Amino acid sequence: MSSQVLSVHPDSRMTDHKRNAPIGLFDSGVGGLSVYNHLAEQLPAERYVYYADTLHVPYGNRDSSDIEALTLAAVTWLYEQGCKLIVIACNSASAHALDAARRHYPQLPIVGLVPALKPAVLASQSGHVAVLATKATLNGTLLNKVINEVAIPYQTTVTKYFDPMLVPWVEAGMPKNSETAACLREQVRNFADNQVDYLVLGCTHYPFFKAFLQAEIDKQQLSMQIVDSGQAIAARVQSLLVEHELLAKPIDDNSQPNNLPLTFYASKYDAFLIVLVQQLVGVDRQVYYLR
Ligand code: DGL
Repeated sequence: MSSQVLSVHPDSRMTDHKRNAPIGLFDSGVGGLSVYNHLAEQLPAERYVYYADTLHVPYGNRDSSDIEALTLAAVTWLYEQGCKLIVIACNSASAHALDAARRHYPQLPIVGLVPALKPAVLASQSGHVAVLATKATLNGTLLNKVINEVAIPYQTTVTKYFDPMLVPWVEAGMPKNSETAACLREQVRNFADNQVDYLVLGCTHYPFFKAFLQAEIDKQQLSMQIVDSGQAIAARVQSLLVEHELLAKPIDDNSQPNNLPLTFYASKYDAFLIVLVQQLVGVDRQVYYLR
C-alpha cells in the first residue's frame, strides 16, 4: 500500500493567513458604519475591525494637524490588529491625513473617502449641486481638487453646506423633534429654491439620515437626488483586494453564515453607543465589542 504525503508550501500558508486577515475601518464615530454596511453587503466573506474615536468626535471642527495626528494613531492601531487593508471611512480624516497614512504604511492598501461630487456634477441637469460635509472636508484639498477639475469645467455651481450639529445629531441617534432636524428640513427647501438637483452626502455620518431627507424631498415633491460614496468605496475595496490577491477565502462549510461578527472598538464607550451601533448595522448582525 502506498501512502501519499501532501505538503503545504509555507508561502501558501502565509498567503492564506494574509487573505483571512480583517479589513480595518476607521471613523471619528459611528459614521463609518454606513461604509461598513456597503462592504458587508458586497464582501460578506470578509472580517471587519472598526475603530471609532468617540473620545475625540467630532473631527470636523478640528485643525488639520490635529486630525492628522488622531488619524495616524487610529491607522497604527488598526495596522497592529493585523488588518490587510484599511478604509479611512471618514471624509474629514481622509482630507487631512490620507497622504500621511499612505506615507507611513506604503506597503498597506489604504482607501480614503472624498464626497461623490463627480457623479453628481456629471448627472446634474440644473448645473447646481450641493455638498453637505464638515468644515474640515469642505476646506480640504481632496474636495477642492474635484471642484477645480470637474465642477468648474462643467460650469456647475457647487454650494458647500455645513452644520456643526449634524454629526452630534447622528451620534445621538437622530431624534426627529430636534432643532437640527428642523434646520435640515428647511435647508432642503432652500436648496430647491436655488435649483439644486443633487445633494452630495460628503460625510459618512450623513447616509444614516438619507431616508429622512428623502421623505422631505417626497413630501415637498422636489426633483432632487441624493448621492453618497458608500457603494463606490465597497467596489474600490473589492478591486484592491483582487489586485493584491487578498480576497478572503470563501468558507467551504455551508453552515457558516456570511454574517461574520463585526469587531467594534471605541476610544470611549457608553451604554447608548452599543444600542446605537446595533441600530445602525441592523439587529441581525452580530457585533463583538473590544475594550
Ligand atoms: N464621519 C466623519 C466624516 O465623514 C465625521 C467627521 C466629524 O467627526 O466631524 O467626515
